[in-house]
Amino acid sequence: MDAEALRIEGLTLHYGGSQILHGIDLVARRGEVTCVMGTNGVGKTSLLKAIAGAHPRSGGRYRLCGDEIGRLGAHGLARRGVAYVPQGREIFPFLTVRENLETGFACLPRGARRVPDEIFDLFPVLHRFLGRRGGDLSGGQQQQLAIARALVTRPRLLLLDEPTEGIQPNVIQEIGAVIATLRRGGEMAIVLVEQYFDFAHSLGDRFVVLERGAIKLRGDAASISRADLIAAVSV
Ligand SMILES: Nc1ncnc2c1ncn2[C@@H]1O[C@H](COP(=O)(O)OP(=O)(O)OP(=O)(O)O)[C@@H](O)[C@H]1O
Ligand SMILES: [Mg+2]
Repeated sequence: MDAEALRIEGLTLHYGGSQILHGIDLVARRGEVTCVMGTNGVGKTSLLKAIAGAHPRSGGRYRLCGDEIGRLGAHGLARRGVAYVPQGREIFPFLTVRENLETGFACLPRGARRVPDEIFDLFPVLHRFLGRRGGDLSGGQQQQLAIARALVTRPRLLLLDEPTEGIQPNVIQEIGAVIATLRRGGEMAIVLVEQYFDFAHSLGDRFVVLERGAIKLRGDAASISRADLIAAVSV
């Protein structure tokens, strides 16, 4: 129970009249990476949006570190330690790196509004480019900025949506190293949505495979074989 950061049960989500998520159960624990996998359009992003409050949940239970959450939306969840790095990064191109990081302050009390030094230990390139506009960074640097902006809030639960999408291999490695460092730190639960199989497989402690908005397969790294996981995500 102690390590449990997130527990959702029977989560459902609709876009207008169409139901996209059908009763998802998911647990994420501190010091672990929980990978959500599945082909295009199965509902991975919708699941992260529901957890982040970026789209309203239509049903199910949601507990964060043991507390019942009810209908709390994005801002309230961010204040309670949920940080969301959306697919496609969504950094602000006309703001500097520093200003992008400072947008993460909105959910922090005034006294806590500083960028922790550890963020620049994780992403030295961002320190070098503090005055540069977000839009002038490479795709990989923008992804690092998006993750750093999420970390500014010192989250208990970090949600990452396809952080390797469209990123060159050397930066993918750096991002993998950062996720591994955060995992080792043991304070944060990480939910990683990822279609790059080897990346997800090398980092994941637990795996969930979605198909048409429902869970098709789940297991932890010790109990689920690589072959079974590949088969589940390949159809
Ligand atoms: N805002 C929206 N309004 C209506 N339907 C949507 C909306 N966003 C997503 N959908 C639909 O919901 C389903 C799940 O989409 P979602 O983006 O969650 O999938 P995904 O697994 O993240 O896909 P991808 O791998 O392409 O990122 C898809 O059929 C998609 O077309
Ligand atoms: Mg998606």
